[in-house]
Amino acid sequence: MARALSNKNKNTYDQLESYLHLLKSPNFSSGQLLAKNAGISRSAVWKQVQRLRQCGYTIESLHGQGYRVTADTTYPVPWELCRILETSFVGKGRIVYRRSVDSTQSLAIALAEKYRGENIHGAVVIAEQQTSGRGRMKRKWISPQGGLWLSVLLKPSIPIASSTMLSFVAALAVCEAVRQVAGLPATLKWPNDVMVKDRKVAGILLDLSAEAETVNYAVVGIGINANIDVSRLKIERGGAPAITSLKGEIGQDISRLELAKALLENLEHFYNILEVGKPEEIISKWRQRCSMLGKKVSVIQGQKGEVLEGRAVDVNADGSLVLEGKSGSVAVVSGDVRIL
Ligand code: BTN
Repeated sequence: MARALSNKNKNTYDQLESYLHLLKSPNFSSGQLLAKNAGISRSAVWKQVQRLRQCGYTIESLHGQGYRVTADTTYPVPWELCRILETSFVGKGRIVYRRSVDSTQSLAIALAEKYRGENIHGAVVIAEQQTSGRGRMKRKWISPQGGLWLSVLLKPSIPIASSTMLSFVAALAVCEAVRQVAGLPATLKWPNDVMVKDRKVAGILLDLSAEAETVNYAVVGIGINANIDVSRLKIERGGAPAITSLKGEIGQDISRLELAKALLENLEHFYNILEVGKPEEIISKWRQRCSMLGKKVSVIQGQKGEVLEGRAVDVNADGSLVLEGKSGSVAVVSGDVRIL
């Protein structure tokens, strides 16, 4: 897929880059010049300008003068993201971008299945909004315009037992990106929620395709409530109290382009640590960012909703949570944590 995707993208983005280059110059570019340069009609120029506006660019148009970009986009559009991304494989020339999709996770899985034999490692699917976003435990993930919704395709060369660590890698990457771009004291809550002041700001969903001892591919889904009004999230999530957004915390929009860049760069960084066989380094960094260790918690497990209570004392190298209860300590492998 990466090859097919890269070639197709390259041509489209090259064309767009030359077009944008003209539009971004301080002087107005006439419709005629833009049309001639891109080899398209003047009405097609107008349509392109509309499309670019939908992609977040502010474009001034003046009768008799033409068009010019007065403010660059802050949307995670692939041609801008590829340009600024400092990674060696994550997202490099392999980004699928949609205005609206049912779920980036479902699309990424479909692409992974379709292009099984090809090098899909590091490909990214981003959407401006999702109509059927998926959360953990088969929950719905409300994903309006303004959030950062993306899925990263990986072909990890790590033992299957370590593959669940990918969600810890992703949570750490989100935590660091939120700190760097929004300047917020983001923390982690087991297993992989990213919190700001005890409210969830981002979540991770990991889908694995594996046979015997081999992971065919992994899809790491990341949802960050970025530029969304908290009131909207609360209404849409049925009044759940522990939800927030970056905008709700800092009172203004952030650049989702910068956030996507920081996120993908951090993801590659932590992934590389896992791949060289150092999961304990990931866990150790994770512990530093974790805000719930030492606290009394309840863990709701599985479909049956079995509840365990105790003190969350540690996270093991395999990612399980060590819970110290009345009858000793247990390692919990999955569930939802509430801090008591
Ligand atoms: C959670 O429940 O905490 C996990 C939420 C994961 C949401 C992301 S948004 C991008 C990707 N596409 C989806 O449908 N889900 C994940």
